[in-house]
Amino acid sequence: MRKKLAAGNWKMNGTEAQLAEVDSLIASHPDPKVDLLLCPPATLIERMARRVGTAQIAVGGQDCHAAVSGAHTGDVSAEMLRDAGARHVILGHSERRADHGETDACIRAKAETALAHDLIVVICVGETEAQRDAGDTLDVIRTQLAGSIPDGVTGAQLVVAYEPVWAIGTGRTPTLDQIAEVHDAIRAALTERLGAAQADTIRLLYGGSVKPGNAAEIFAVSNVDGALVGGASLKAADFSGIIAAL
Ligand code: G3H
Repeated sequence: MRKKLAAGNWKMNGTEAQLAEVDSLIASHPDPKVDLLLCPPATLIERMARRVGTAQIAVGGQDCHAAVSGAHTGDVSAEMLRDAGARHVILGHSERRADHGETDACIRAKAETALAHDLIVVICVGETEAQRDAGDTLDVIRTQLAGSIPDGVTGAQLVVAYEPVWAIGTGRTPTLDQIAEVHDAIRAALTERLGAAQADTIRLLYGGSVKPGNAAEIFAVSNVDGALVGGASLKAADFSGIIAAL
């Protein structure tokens, strides 16, 4: 029922030469059975969208400002993302929360603006290692969801990514039971908030050290509908291995 989604977050990596990986990805998956999304740095969004052409790969941004426009030096608006060819935007990534002090309220405001500009929002949640060790994981996740997801969002407008902070770029992953526990809790929280009809259609992605070698077992977990991939999305061969496991 929920179509699987493989999303790549290139983070602050890539210039023109990196776009060759898009060509390789298209060649490997001319008719993908899952949805594909690539989120390059803002400077590459338009070029990537042109490079993708009619191939079935969506392009997304990694952040946008909550304001529609104005005096916000260095920021990118939701309208600019749309104009460049993006149809999705990642919001609330833990690196944004840590590097830029983004709060749940700030992420919610960004999401409201993004939705108003017809972008699909990929909202990220996840606990730090200290929060997990303290037994606070589910409380942290529920608080982040409650604070960062706008009211009235539909299932078609929202993707949620669970990314334990301690698993990002570390080669460490939670156990499959831990992933299942959090994803089941996210689905339950979304159902309580939005109703089952909407919540059942929302893709829940796992992110954090997903590689071709561990993707299949993670994708078999309850309520895991795909992945948000960082490092392994930079090489088409690695990302293809993950896509093949979906
Ligand atoms: O957005 C992606 C995540 O932060 C995961 O990054 O696959 O490099 O661990 P990673």
